[in-house]
Amino acid sequence: MNKVETSFLHKNQFGDDFLWGVSTAAFQIEGAHDTDGKGPSIWDVFTSQKGKIKNGHHASNACDFYNSYQNDIDLIRELNIPNFRFSISWPRIMPTGVPPINQAGIAYYNKIIDALLSAGIEPWITLYHWDLPHDLELKGGWTNRESVNWFSAYVEICVQSFGDRVKNWMVINEPSVFTGAGYFLGIHAPGKKGITNYLKAMHHVTLATAAGAKIIRNRIPDAHIGTTFSCTHIEPATQSSKDIEAAKRVDTLLNRTFIEPILGMGYPQGDLPVLKKLNAYIVEDDLNNLSFDFDFIGLQCYTREVVKSSLLIPYIGAELISAEKRNVISTDMGWEVYPPALYEVLKKFNAYNGIKKIIITENGAAFPDTLKNGKVYDIKRTHYIQDHLEQILKAKKEGLNVDGYFVWTLTDNFEWAEGYNARFGLIHVDFDTQQRTIKHSGLWFKDFLS
Ligand code: NOJ
Repeated sequence: MNKVETSFLHKNQFGDDFLWGVSTAAFQIEGAHDTDGKGPSIWDVFTSQKGKIKNGHHASNACDFYNSYQNDIDLIRELNIPNFRFSISWPRIMPTGVPPINQAGIAYYNKIIDALLSAGIEPWITLYHWDLPHDLELKGGWTNRESVNWFSAYVEICVQSFGDRVKNWMVINEPSVFTGAGYFLGIHAPGKKGITNYLKAMHHVTLATAAGAKIIRNRIPDAHIGTTFSCTHIEPATQSSKDIEAAKRVDTLLNRTFIEPILGMGYPQGDLPVLKKLNAYIVEDDLNNLSFDFDFIGLQCYTREVVKSSLLIPYIGAELISAEKRNVISTDMGWEVYPPALYEVLKKFNAYNGIKKIIITENGAAFPDTLKNGKVYDIKRTHYIQDHLEQILKAKKEGLNVDGYFVWTLTDNFEWAEGYNARFGLIHVDFDTQQRTIKHSGLWFKDFLS
């Protein structure tokens, strides 16, 4: 497999300024869960509880990126990937979530940043990728309005510590997923449930997004500031008005609820009445403090959802019809492989006034990769990436705004409630030995970027 299968795609078609990268998150790769003074995060606690994660997996060691970062950075360079997105673990910097600061945590991220820069790779920091310090959760976590202040203090420390070398910042990763799964459904950390927890967390996270961005702007005037949202192309199961209305509610919840207040449009309460309950938590100048003029918006799209009306489902009155039920091709996450979704979401988000730049900050797929004779022939992932890039090209040709593409992810890693079962990497990891093997998809990406 020396010569990698070619496609008609060429990097030049995307333009010289198009940003190519790969995305990761601290909890999913670092391991070293209690090394050098790190405090526990809500995910350390959640993964230690019985029955929360498939096969009882935990991320105490994960990919051991904490120790093997230089090797992985060398691999990023080998793959010709110019931009690396990673997140800062808040409890590594502040073990209890508030001062005092753990200098060893600062030193660790300084090493990562310096190693990236000396390898000629641009660092892109995500400030919050779901690993809230556990001590803050004991005070209510994101359901406590104080969380906006806790987060602001943490952002201050990060920008003071790393802002001299890091220009690209993302404030919060996928707020709808971690508040929905972690505070409404209870299937992600911290395992809270219910509409009250969810709505409070939603409002505080949105306030924190704008507050964090303002701090970065004040401290690093030339910073390139973004935040990332999960998004999905939504289609009604039938053309009945009930299904069309249900699809509209799901679209509002999954695609609009978090970005619209940031864009100064307020919460889309008209199209999703349950959001009116948010008014109980909106005080003083909140509506003005929800918005920020981001330099870019990161969109993370993996699939589409097909929706039917269902009166049994509270608040939303809608149900997603799984890929399995629809009998369509899907990934190990059970997500349909449907590349046009990426084009559709680009079209949708381009229609907003006020988004200056869109970067696809995550896209990728989990497949059951196997290592045979030292190679991983993950052709399905190679095609998944190629087919999604075709959709970006289509969007670009129509003049839509899209300026970058980051693959999720560099190495196989800890996929939250799925544990290590869902392999998303361009690089295979043997979790017993930590051996890395570049997959076919990684070799293709390397060729493509060369
Ligand atoms: C979204 C999240 O940001 C990331 O942490 C996760 O692993 C991928 N999507 C795949 O589910």
